[in-house]
Amino acid sequence: MARAAARYVCQSCGAAHPKWSGRCEDCGAWNTIVEEAPRDDVPRGLGAAKGKSSSRKLDFVPLKGTADGTPRLVTGIAEFDRVCGGGLVPGSALLLGGDPGIGKSTLLLQVAARAAGTAACVYISGEEAIDQVRMRAQRLDVAEANVQLASATSVRDIAAGMESAVGPCIVVIDSIQTMYVDTLDSAPGTVAQVRASAQELIRIAKRKGLTVVLVGHVTKEGVIAGPRVLEHMVDTVLYFEGERGHQFRILRAVKNRYGPTDEIGVFEMGERGLGEVPNPSALFLGERNAEVPGAAVFAGIEGTRPLLVEIQALVAPAPLGSPRRAVVGWDASRLAQVLAVLEARGGLAFAGNEVYLNVAGGLRIVEPAADLAVAAALVSSLTDRAMPRATVLFGEIGLSGEVRPVGHVATRLKEAAKLGFAEAWIPKRRPGSQAPGKTSAPAGAGESGIQLREIEHVRDLIAAFQDQARAGQWNPARRGGAPGRG
Ligand code: TYD
Ligand code: MG
Repeated sequence: MARAAARYVCQSCGAAHPKWSGRCEDCGAWNTIVEEAPRDDVPRGLGAAKGKSSSRKLDFVPLKGTADGTPRLVTGIAEFDRVCGGGLVPGSALLLGGDPGIGKSTLLLQVAARAAGTAACVYISGEEAIDQVRMRAQRLDVAEANVQLASATSVRDIAAGMESAVGPCIVVIDSIQTMYVDTLDSAPGTVAQVRASAQELIRIAKRKGLTVVLVGHVTKEGVIAGPRVLEHMVDTVLYFEGERGHQFRILRAVKNRYGPTDEIGVFEMGERGLGEVPNPSALFLGERNAEVPGAAVFAGIEGTRPLLVEIQALVAPAPLGSPRRAVVGWDASRLAQVLAVLEARGGLAFAGNEVYLNVAGGLRIVEPAADLAVAAALVSSLTDRAMPRATVLFGEIGLSGEVRPVGHVATRLKEAAKLGFAEAWIPKRRPGSQAPGKTSAPAGAGESGIQLREIEHVRDLIAAFQDQARAGQWNPARRGGAPGRG
């Protein structure tokens, strides 16, 4: 039999290639391909059954039956529980990914300390010594909690410990990249080790009904296997994200077999660790004490929660060369699309201008409904006319310039009203397409008490700015590119 060839495995996405190259063709990452010893567990088909034993037949059961609703371990940190879908699930595996230093260890130590009242909590650190974890616990004011600590990296030792657990138990493994299985030759942190370690830990967790929480660092350097290779093995994948300079951290569910995946939890990193932010709208609105050109408030939805967030744009004449387009918190290609639509369908000229777009507070928005607010911020900055301060917007913009309806209209308007907004610029609603139980009303005051203005096309958006200018409450246009009048 031919000798099995070595495999070249991308440490970022896990793809195997027959030869080495500088760039992984699957995920595009550079310098991530590492030679790994050939796997000897390649499936070879079933072959003939050993001995006389005939294969066991599967016991099929009907789809209909009693499923006892998933029991939950409620940790008591509400933002965390909600993102998990109502708490941790016994016998499941959760992966918490995020950049190094973002606060994963801090969050999980706080979660473990809070959950220690309801379940046994074990915190296994492969990165920090016991004393370091203790010092952090003191700083977080959770040193009294009944959490069992261990500093270990050998999966064999950890597995032996997990075998002896009784009752509900949360096992935090910080981090999976430091764990190793002694039957493999590769170094800790390689795809092979990360996969094998996770597989073993998850297998025990499922069998014993424990909840295992794996920490995975996301790195671009490629020496350490990214959490992406684990995503299909675990039940829930959460990402902890935020801008380094901001104190806000967003916990986002990207996969969840036991709950929704669009939910976010908002935390604030302070002196004493992470604090929950139960009402994030106020926080992402920024300091709004004056009407500034280039700012627009988007009435968004994150998971089940409405979230108002300020979108800021700056359109400035470019010096020579190709003008810059820079985005923080939104998709750059989506910005290019909105700019192109405003130019082609709205007759505005952004060419020759640099465009900067920023979502306040370090939030990242993925909803297409943000298009209209982005467009408004852009038009506002280009024409140097501020949006009325008490106005929110939402709506998706199509390539022909039409503004498309989006969901959760009533929830968005309610949140805006709650925070003192008086007017909303929204897509034209299709007759009968209102929220259940509500009738479609023409433009005017909605049932939330907010004045509604329907924007059907980007031309209407530009006209809205002109109307405001005519009404005399607005700064005159400063630059060229302002929409022509009449
Ligand atoms: P950490 O939880 O160690 O990050 P990760 O496990 O994701 O690598 O968080 C480290 C950062 O958090 C560090 O830069 C300091 C900051 N921090 C605070 O600001 N306040 C605190 O109370 C704690 C414990 C950490
Ligand atoms: Mg850590």
